[in-house]
Amino acid sequence: MGWVEEAKRRAAIEAAREVRDGLIVGLGSGSTAAYAIEEIGRRVKEEGLRILAIPTSYQALLLAVKYGIPTTTLHEHPIIDLTIDGADQIDPDLNLIKGMGGALTREKIVASSSKRFVIVADERKLTDKLGRGHPIPVEIIPFAQPLVVSRVRELGGEPHLRERDRGVPYITDNGNFILDVNFGAVENPKELDLRLKAIPGVVETGLFIGMAHAAYVGTKTSVEKIFRREPT
Ligand code: A5P
Repeated sequence: MGWVEEAKRRAAIEAAREVRDGLIVGLGSGSTAAYAIEEIGRRVKEEGLRILAIPTSYQALLLAVKYGIPTTTLHEHPIIDLTIDGADQIDPDLNLIKGMGGALTREKIVASSSKRFVIVADERKLTDKLGRGHPIPVEIIPFAQPLVVSRVRELGGEPHLRERDRGVPYITDNGNFILDVNFGAVENPKELDLRLKAIPGVVETGLFIGMAHAAYVGTKTSVEKIFRREPT
């Protein structure tokens, strides 16, 4: 295993220590969250940990089933105690870009339902400004693609329809398309999120602003825990 996979796995195992008996736990999507799900499953099996999980995607659901973690729904448990999820970019205020795995909408719903939201990632995800060298995923209703594309361009973004294969659009768990939009380094991600959300046909954006409480970041040798800076 190379250092990146090791770093992801170490961060995920450290974060999974936050899971306690009796919690409702949101399970994130992506390769780093998958390590956390595996570790939670190990604790369920070996330590008799009793939790109920709410997956953010079919990927997370299938992993929960594979590792023997009982699942529930937001309808039965609308308040989640703790969610552990990955991220694609993390800025110094713990604002995030998410969605390269395509699960951004359910991830934002689960994170918004959570009392505590922690991120697991390797150190390559840290950035001084969101959007620098990285697109922002935006989930859209397919019917609205032409309108959203032109409105996103008016906002200064360069949108690309995500494809599963050449010419075949990627379809989310919700049956929608994803536009990966290049804006360059974003000065005010909160305002950009609001502007994108105001476009008819936009379901959700991959900008997660002021939501994460902490991040476990795996480095080449250790795990660094970063807390959200409270506004002064
Ligand atoms: C899924 O939609 C994303 O938000 C993932 O959480 C993100 O892409 C991180 O994935 P990796 O841990 O695989 O990098």
